[in-house]
Amino acid sequence: MNLVEMKNITKCFGEVVANKQVNFDLKPGEIHALLGENGAGKSTLMKILYGMYDMDEGQIMVKNNKVDIEDCRDAIELGIGMVHQHFMLIPQLTVTNNIFLGMKEAGFILNEKELNKKVVELADKYGFNVNPGDYVSQLPVGVQQKIEILKLLIRDSKILILDEPTAVLTPQEVEELFYSLKKLKEKNYSIIFITHKMDEVLNHSDRVTVMRDGESIATLNTDQVSEESLAKKMVGREVFLDQANEERKRSFGKELLKIKNLSVKSNKNLKVIKNLSFSIREGEILGIAGVDGNGQLELGEALTGIREFTGEINIEGNSIKINSPKKLIEQGLSHIPDDRQEKGLIPSFTVKENLILGSQRKKEFTNNIFLSEDKIENKSKDLIREYDIRPPKTDLTVDSLSGGNQQKVILARALSRDPKVIIAIHPTRGLDVGAIEFIRTRLLEERKKGKAILFISTELEEVMALSDRIAVIYEGEFVDIVEPETDKEKIGLMMTGKKGNDKGKDGNQI
Ligand SMILES: Nc1ncnc2c1ncn2[C@@H]1O[C@H](COP(=O)(O)OP(=O)(O)OP(=O)(O)O)[C@@H](O)[C@H]1O
Ligand SMILES: [Mg+2]
Repeated sequence: MNLVEMKNITKCFGEVVANKQVNFDLKPGEIHALLGENGAGKSTLMKILYGMYDMDEGQIMVKNNKVDIEDCRDAIELGIGMVHQHFMLIPQLTVTNNIFLGMKEAGFILNEKELNKKVVELADKYGFNVNPGDYVSQLPVGVQQKIEILKLLIRDSKILILDEPTAVLTPQEVEELFYSLKKLKEKNYSIIFITHKMDEVLNHSDRVTVMRDGESIATLNTDQVSEESLAKKMVGREVFLDQANEERKRSFGKELLKIKNLSVKSNKNLKVIKNLSFSIREGEILGIAGVDGNGQLELGEALTGIREFTGEINIEGNSIKINSPKKLIEQGLSHIPDDRQEKGLIPSFTVKENLILGSQRKKEFTNNIFLSEDKIENKSKDLIREYDIRPPKTDLTVDSLSGGNQQKVILARALSRDPKVIIAIHPTRGLDVGAIEFIRTRLLEERKKGKAILFISTELEEVMALSDRIAVIYEGEFVDIVEPETDKEKIGLMMTGKKGNDKGKDGNQI
């Protein structure tokens, strides 16, 4: 029997067909992965099931009964709950208050103490380690996600939909999440998780439905598929992710970016980047490897002008000592921020407006003093073509684009300024293999053009694949800077703060 059946679902947004005659079914007690590239229509399909969007055509059956899901309340009544790509908790409230928000139990029947007890009981049952009295604003995203899931469990949802749950998690948190999902499955919960990551599908799902361009391509038993066949179904062609370093250069040009004695404080006023000095030369990618939370965020923010620092950022001889995004751009620095929603884009602005953000005053967009609509339109169209931004429209608001396409808008803007220095902070996070391939290729092209690139990522393999040198960061300091051919295990160990005991390139003990 199918617990849920979605038949021939079609959903359009204006001219964009997000779902085209899609079929999807869910069995009781299974973990079902929904795999697809950015913009394939995964979130749309699940939002229809959760009552957030009306479908244009199609039918939904729950336990063999045709249902009308008009809003989220209907969905919750049917036992369907969803955790979104972007969490929806209230930061100023405690864990317990968030979990019970809007529920009758809160305040009426049970007091705070009893509610806390209920939270702890439920959390313990599924291996969620949360503290009911903590304020959400102080909790890492991994914990916030657990709270979102607990919210669903308290509302008695038996069908749990998680939209890209691992995109924001550290590897450790990912393990914890899948451990909890397995426990839930054992209790006969049915789980749908959206992802682009092949290994998550292969290791943690029972079945997988692949979507491409708004269509459901196939539903398969996970133990009968290979990574290659899945990737091919998802992208519609062969994918090559090890394009990276065949042409790794060994000679570089002059120093374009020089960082001297940089120190940066966190929001909690702790020194999280400690007196860092390094430089990047023409045609070089310096990768920063490290476990999330070792100062990468603050380093990135300082280098992009949105966080105060002491020390000096020097771009081709021009020294910058105070934080100013404008100055950095003027000196030829472009960046790809870590959080595209918050720092990268203005979601309610159009693609066109976002593409020229920060360059409005440039000559190429003005007729003497006024902005020239035509020039902007033409430039945007060129960029949309060059960066394969889909759908190829200049006037859509950027929040209606999928994550991968939003990232391409940022990339297009950053690179079209023809910068000397590029700061790329988690540029492929949350993207599908097709988009990852695209972004890596573009960065390598920029290297070839002689740009100096700082590449921050928590994916060690990616850092190793793209970088010419790798700086391993731990608690705000570089443990060492090593060659990209260094043993993965050794770098992994350095990421925990331990220095390697091997010889450095020049034969010195590191
Ligand atoms: N609210 C909306 N308004 C207009 N267009 C939308 C809206 N939501 C989605 N779309 C469009 O529908 C298509 C499918 O988007 P959807 O968000 O479902 O993709 P996705 O598979 O979840 O992608 P991602 O992996 O990037 O999250 C995209 O082309 C997107 O631009
Ligand atoms: Mg999505």
